[in-house]
Amino acid sequence: MNRVSNINVIKTMLIKNPVEDVAAKKMFRVALNKSHATLIYNKINPNTYDLIHTFIPKRYQGTGLGSIFAFKIFDYLIEKNLKYKLTCEFLIKICDKTKGKYELNRIKD
Ligand SMILES: CC(C)(COP(=O)(O)OP(=O)(O)OC[C@H]1O[C@@H](n2cnc3c(N)ncnc32)[C@H](O)[C@@H]1OP(=O)(O)O)[C@@H](O)C(=O)NCCC(=O)NCCS
Repeated sequence: MNRVSNINVIKTMLIKNPVEDVAAKKMFRVALNKSHATLIYNKINPNTYDLIHTFIPKRYQGTGLGSIFAFKIFDYLIEKNLKYKLTCEFLIKICDKTKGKYELNRIKD
């Protein structure tokens, strides 16, 4: 399978697979083939997360997966009525670009 068709399969996995909260590792993740898209967090209080570091496996970086993952995480937290502070510079960029609904549950200090 060439890289372009493979990336579409991986994008579909990212869209369809659930967000898992691996609390022991302070990590949200979504399964992608044999790896994961991950986001390290700190829980500020039961309803608020500090989103610290986003990671897409190296071979898939620069293909739009990070943006899809960012939206998926924001949607997941909004759906659960949770607030988030953005420390990850990538998530700040994505949130600032889209404004609107992703600002609603964002806290700034
Ligand atoms: C950062 C990362 C998650 C982005 O995922 P990706 O799939 O490569 O991103 P996309 O292809 O969706 O790119 C979306 C945009 O984010 C930008 N971007 C990439 N890395 C960035 C970073 N570290 N900070 C801010 N913006 C970044 C891209 O240039 C692109 O901008 P454009 O739309 O204006 O061209 C991924 O590259 C990665 O895991 N990098 C290593 C770890 C890291 O640096 N994490 C971020 C710091 S917390």
